[in-house]
Amino acid sequence: ADEPLGVTLLDEDLVIYRTSGGVVVARDLCLHRGSRLTLGWLDSDELVCRYHGWRYSVDGRCTRVPSQPAGRKISPRARLFTYPSVERYGMIWTCLSGSPKEDLPEWPEAEDPDYLWLNLPTQEWRTSAARQVENFLDISHFSFVHRGTFGNPDLAEMTDFDVEITPNGLHYEYPYVASNPDISALGSTPTILRLMTYEVTLPFAVKLTIHYPEKGKDAKHIIFNTASPTSAKRMRIFFFIA
Ligand code: FES
Repeated sequence: ADEPLGVTLLDEDLVIYRTSGGVVVARDLCLHRGSRLTLGWLDSDELVCRYHGWRYSVDGRCTRVPSQPAGRKISPRARLFTYPSVERYGMIWTCLSGSPKEDLPEWPEAEDPDYLWLNLPTQEWRTSAARQVENFLDISHFSFVHRGTFGNPDLAEMTDFDVEITPNGLHYEYPYVASNPDISALGSTPTILRLMTYEVTLPFAVKLTIHYPEKGKDAKHIIFNTASPTSAKRMRIFFFIA
């Protein structure tokens, strides 16, 4: 909110800063002598470079070179390499090619105040974004990795199911008889049926709706999993539950 934030996306170091005109996402590079802009600060809606004080506005344009008289013309080339940005679902989305091939995922529940909303802290994993998404989509590990919570050790064998290809991803459903140990808030039955619906927005965003039909038609929770590729072999997870 009040200072520039540094993040990495696909090996590109970015600076993100917030102005009253919106969020700016730019390469973390001052056009003067190549200093990192994340070392600078925000002042009156502008990003100030720590090295010689050049100031950049909401559109990335340099508005002031302090070593020059105030009226002197500033080259239009003194402009940050900015990327489009959208703020939605509590995240800032950008696109390094400058022109997204697809729209953002449509997740109406994520903007519905009738849902209780839980943000989990972001996590960094030493794997590719694709591998993390693969893990989130994979049901056959439940019986092993999730023993002790919902993973049912007696249900390792899966039944076949269909995967539908949608305009921007994949869709499939799977009924899973989950373990329901005493720590569960869903009552003390040894197992409970989960109807799971996976909706993938390629490449790396997934909505998983888990419905408990034995508990009523509104008994469900939804998990939103978005994998941000920091690098080829590193990623950051944005994980929310409604
Ligand atoms: Fe940024 Fe000189 S390097 S103002």
